[in-house]
Amino acid sequence: MAATGTHQKVLISLLIFLFTFVVFYMYKRNNTLAPQTPQVVHIAKENNTNENYTILLIWFWPFKKKFDLNSCASKYQINGCHLTDDRNLYSKADGVLIHHRDIYDNLSNLPNLPRPFFQKWIWMLFESPQNSKKIQGLDNLFNVTMNYRRDADITVREQLQCNTKETEEPIPVKNKKTKTVCWIVSNWNENHARVKYYNILKEHIEVETFGRHFNRVLSNEGYTQTIENCKFYLSFENTLKSSDHTAIDYMTEKLYSPLRLGTVPVVLGPPRDSYERFIPRDAFIHVDDFSSPKELADYLLGINETEYHQFFNWRKHFTMTGVNFAEEHACRACQYIRERKSFQVFTNLNKWYWG
Ligand SMILES: *[C@@H]1O[C@H](CO)[C@@H](O)[C@H](O)[C@H]1NC(C)=O
Ligand SMILES: *[C@@H]1O[C@H](CO)[C@@H](O)[C@H](O)[C@H]1NC(C)=O
Ligand SMILES: *[C@@H]1O[C@H](CO)[C@@H](O)[C@H](O)[C@H]1NC(C)=O
Ligand SMILES: *[C@@H]1O[C@H](CO)[C@@H](O)[C@H](O)[C@H]1NC(C)=O
Ligand SMILES: *[C@@H]1O[C@H](CO)[C@@H](O)[C@H](O)[C@H]1NC(C)=O
Repeated sequence: MAATGTHQKVLISLLIFLFTFVVFYMYKRNNTLAPQTPQVVHIAKENNTNENYTILLIWFWPFKKKFDLNSCASKYQINGCHLTDDRNLYSKADGVLIHHRDIYDNLSNLPNLPRPFFQKWIWMLFESPQNSKKIQGLDNLFNVTMNYRRDADITVREQLQCNTKETEEPIPVKNKKTKTVCWIVSNWNENHARVKYYNILKEHIEVETFGRHFNRVLSNEGYTQTIENCKFYLSFENTLKSSDHTAIDYMTEKLYSPLRLGTVPVVLGPPRDSYERFIPRDAFIHVDDFSSPKELADYLLGINETEYHQFFNWRKHFTMTGVNFAEEHACRACQYIRERKSFQVFTNLNKWYWG
């Protein structure tokens, strides 16, 4: 009787112990698998040997093009950044740079491991909303936005930098240039405002055309030589309307390269006041300033040498600085993450960008 009682007690104790163990194990296991569990990755973080380095994981190479991962300090004076494309470092990464275009509308292409509590995801896109697909399900994923728009968390764009002193930049001479109006176009779409505008403009002024569409693709040197030799360049953005308010702040190398190379840009894209936030009002010509392509053509043909030089007044005080896609962008993203340790989320990405 007593012996049986002892056996029962042992058995019950054993069962209780087993039950507790199983419950504890399940709890532990669930906790480990639950998304964004701090403890697990906290250990990994503590053991990071490069504790002073901010790790930025380049999740996709933007447009599949690689760049130098070790140039932040030497080229951009951004120190303490460790850029990597090694996805095994995911749980240690302070930031994950995700290029919108390379998601390809497939959320399975995004990291699927739990996100460490300290990690920020940076959404990166430098195409206009018109030219980029809106992807459902991105609204509550990102912490930081990187874009050409001024209201992004990280704005990266070419800009006019103030010179420290007045410079003796040579002023381009109109009469030395052999080409009147030039245009390079690769992506040809009859529905785009720029194509409609060009089709009428070319009836009134000679336009030298280049690019894939015209089977005249220019090399890098060919590009510089050609643009320098044009009096005017059609900086026509890829928008549906000739003055597109939805393309906030969207100006590309189509504007900045001619400026740098000493050619007067004739712009089509965002409205004039939008351009004037980034470049002086007398440095460019906007198609909106004319009632028709013919009126623009007549104006361009009538500009004399003195008037032409006025377009380059800005060169006395400013220099066009370029940006190196996407190497510089990655370094800037890392710098941002490094300098801001605060909690940060971006909740309405799709509405913000696609309206
Ligand atoms: C982190 O380092 C500590 C002490 O050096 C060590 O005991 C622990 O196992 C390490 N953890 C990981 C996840 O490497
Ligand atoms: C981290 O940086 C501090 C100050 O910049 C320096 O004193 C320290 O030696 C660095 N530690 C490591 C592990 O590099
Ligand atoms: C989405 O991406 C995953 C992983 O890269 C792939 O296995 C899957 O086939 C893709 N799905 C679609 C619909 O493309
Ligand atoms: C150029 O045009 C301006 C304005 O029409 C005029 O005042 C100026 O005298 C002209 N200069 C030359 C060199 O023809
Ligand atoms: C980043 O954003 C995610 C999703 O909104 C959020 O859960 C996480 O706490 C944020 N992390 C930081 C470090 O701000």
